[in-house]
Amino acid sequence: MMIKQQNAFSHCKFEVPEIIFGRGLLSQVGSCARRLGGKKIFLVSDQGLFKAGWVDQVMQSLLDSGLRFAYYDQVTPNPKDWEVEQGAKEYIRHEADVIVGLGGGSAMDAAKGIAILASNGGRIRDFEGSNNINRPLPPLVLCPTTCGTGSDVSQFAVINDTQRRCKLTIMSRCVAPDISLTDPNTLQTLPGEYIGTTATDALSHAMEAFLSVAASSLTDVNAIRALRLISKSMEKAVKEHSPEDLENLARASLHAGMAFSNSLLGIVHALAHPIGGLYDANHGSVNAVLLQEVLSYDLPAVEDKLPELAFGMGYRTGGDTTSAAEMVQESLNRLLDASGAPRSLRSLGVAEEDLPALAKQAKQDICILTSPRQAEEDDLLAILKRAY
Ligand SMILES: [Fe+2]
Repeated sequence: MMIKQQNAFSHCKFEVPEIIFGRGLLSQVGSCARRLGGKKIFLVSDQGLFKAGWVDQVMQSLLDSGLRFAYYDQVTPNPKDWEVEQGAKEYIRHEADVIVGLGGGSAMDAAKGIAILASNGGRIRDFEGSNNINRPLPPLVLCPTTCGTGSDVSQFAVINDTQRRCKLTIMSRCVAPDISLTDPNTLQTLPGEYIGTTATDALSHAMEAFLSVAASSLTDVNAIRALRLISKSMEKAVKEHSPEDLENLARASLHAGMAFSNSLLGIVHALAHPIGGLYDANHGSVNAVLLQEVLSYDLPAVEDKLPELAFGMGYRTGGDTTSAAEMVQESLNRLLDASGAPRSLRSLGVAEEDLPALAKQAKQDICILTSPRQAEEDDLLAILKRAY
């Protein structure tokens, strides 16, 4: 499938949930769930957030709104198919009626997967691909607690298929939640290395959304805003954890999420999905390794967009594409250094003999469709080898 470049209001579609953003607003989760008709809430999170105290805050908010709840915390990084399938059984057993997902991409994607199975039945792999969900999902409130995933506004859910040892991507308007609620205060308990790696995920969302062949003026404005905020605040947020910089990264994640949910992504994510599936690797770290090599590959196809991309990263180039390319690459390198993320596939534990199979899987990933430069298996393998 070829997707034509369409940078005009007359040819774009832009979908977002209701968005609530602000420090201290986690206390509003209960009223959000109640507004969606909830009486018994299925709260999906993970054990790390319970220890940090954020789960307690959400539970208190639900109680303050007169709601009952069931709590499900069997969610691990790169959420697994069986965790989602077990969660759906629990949702049904508890006769819940609204799902709240609190956490990073793993908890929120698990919440989406549980919502799909709760109303559609079957196995999660039945819904892989684009628009394969037939029945409406239960109302969904998603609360991100990292600065990268964008799952709280996106039309994607990514779940690990543990039999095939790959990530399956589900794309549907149905999986965008009813309400996205971000409380940037939750970032204060996120360890420094996760601030860097999740912000790198947002950085790759913004760059890939901006360069996507399905980008529009509506996605561009969000992608550029995300790049500005990340360029301004990533280094300080990682080093100093200041509330202002953390809030900027939370806002950047939201903008990047709105951009990529509507323009889709590119080769970085097409490659990151099979790598994450095979190695259970940190998604932001995988993106960090791939970003520069993919940008170098894409450059001949995106020259006209480079001055605006450079502007997003804080430089004025007067429209000169050569200097814009240099500035974007230099800025990207600086941000990746600041993130503290690994810089090679080898350091992530990827085996060299797996690279051809990873390239083959990436060629089938949905994200490859919107890459600004077409890539065959050989091209993808060459990128992987350079990133090794
Ligand atoms: Fe991502």
